[in-house]
Amino acid sequence: MTQYQTIVAGDPVSRTGAIKLYGPEGFEGMRRAGRLAAEILDALGPHIVPGATTEEIDRIVYDMTIAGGAVPATLGYRGYTHSCCISVNHVVCHGIPGPKTIRDGDIVNVDVTPLLDGWHGDSNRTYLAGNVALKAKKLVEVTYECMMLGIEAARPGNRLGDIGHAIQSHAEKFRYGVVRDFCGHGVGRLFHDAPEVVHVGRPGTGPELKPGMFFTIEPMINIGRPDVKVLDDGWTAVTRDRSLSAQFEHSIGITETGAEIFTKSPAGLDLPHAAS
Ligand code: MF3
Ligand code: CO
Ligand code: CO
Repeated sequence: MTQYQTIVAGDPVSRTGAIKLYGPEGFEGMRRAGRLAAEILDALGPHIVPGATTEEIDRIVYDMTIAGGAVPATLGYRGYTHSCCISVNHVVCHGIPGPKTIRDGDIVNVDVTPLLDGWHGDSNRTYLAGNVALKAKKLVEVTYECMMLGIEAARPGNRLGDIGHAIQSHAEKFRYGVVRDFCGHGVGRLFHDAPEVVHVGRPGTGPELKPGMFFTIEPMINIGRPDVKVLDDGWTAVTRDRSLSAQFEHSIGITETGAEIFTKSPAGLDLPHAAS
């Protein structure tokens, strides 16, 4: 049976396994952390070009996070030593920034999580570097649609399975593979909390969504099979068949009537290349 736990301002938080229900101060905190995440991702667009290295992008994320009064939640997280994850082409997630150069035609996901005044704003976008093949662009667009369809299904009375179903049914129309090995998660005062938000599912199944639940929706969609493997560095997850993989992530909060997107771009750049 699903357990819920109401969090009042100042309550200590820990991973209890229960789903936390936050109040107005939670929404306030997540709006600020989420806005900073979105501003960082907005600013990255012009830097994600052929010739740039992923460690240069990581440095920009670090500087902007600190300038915004936050710290990168990934820095020191389970031994991770960077300010973001950068996942290029067949890398599904958790790509480690380094001297690697971005090339013309790459699809590049950057995932940031500023921790601001105790709140985690977790968001990622997939950018197009230079001239990207139509097939790859299509994958990126459909992956964004999958995330947004998942968010549309996020409202009180619906269940987590409704979100997974919305995502899976859209992706599979295009014969894409939905990654099973990584999922969305509760977010808020903790970086990764209950519940697990799986990106596949059956309607009407899973925990019921209630106002005050905060979680991410972050589908990873592959042109090929859903299967992934983690490289010897212990982090980098790649598609087993080396097919391209795209991802988008928002942090959201369930309201009385639907969901509030905490990490929405103030500049309308949520799908980077779609904006003017
Ligand atoms: N930001 C990722 C997520 O969406 C988690 C990255 S953890 C790291 O949940 F250690 F790999 F950075
Ligand atoms: Co996340
Ligand atoms: Co993330």
